[in-house]
Amino acid sequence: MNKIELCNVSDVEIGQSLKVEKNGLVLAVFNVEGEFFVTDDLCTHGPGSLSESYILDDIVECNFHNGSFNIKTGEVVSAPCTDRLKTYPVTIENSLVCITA
Ligand code: FES
Repeated sequence: MNKIELCNVSDVEIGQSLKVEKNGLVLAVFNVEGEFFVTDDLCTHGPGSLSESYILDDIVECNFHNGSFNIKTGEVVSAPCTDRLKTYPVTIENSLVCITA
């Protein structure tokens, strides 16, 4: 398990997301009401990029077929997605959003 620094907290506004590619991972960093969450960027249903998708509170709705996930847990919220989204444990260190992966 490695700690990976992804971005500065100021890079992602509340209610927004950012795509970050690091260490062979393609990730989406979300700011949900000031709390940061990180998931895989790729939708589990197809080619949708979740960092480019629609966010409402703690739900992200894929811009491809409108399936949705809970950003905090990765659980599927609506079809056609059936497989949960991978999430990563987040820490904030010196204003940097970090994960262990
Ligand atoms: S690719 Fe995301 S819902 Fe189909």
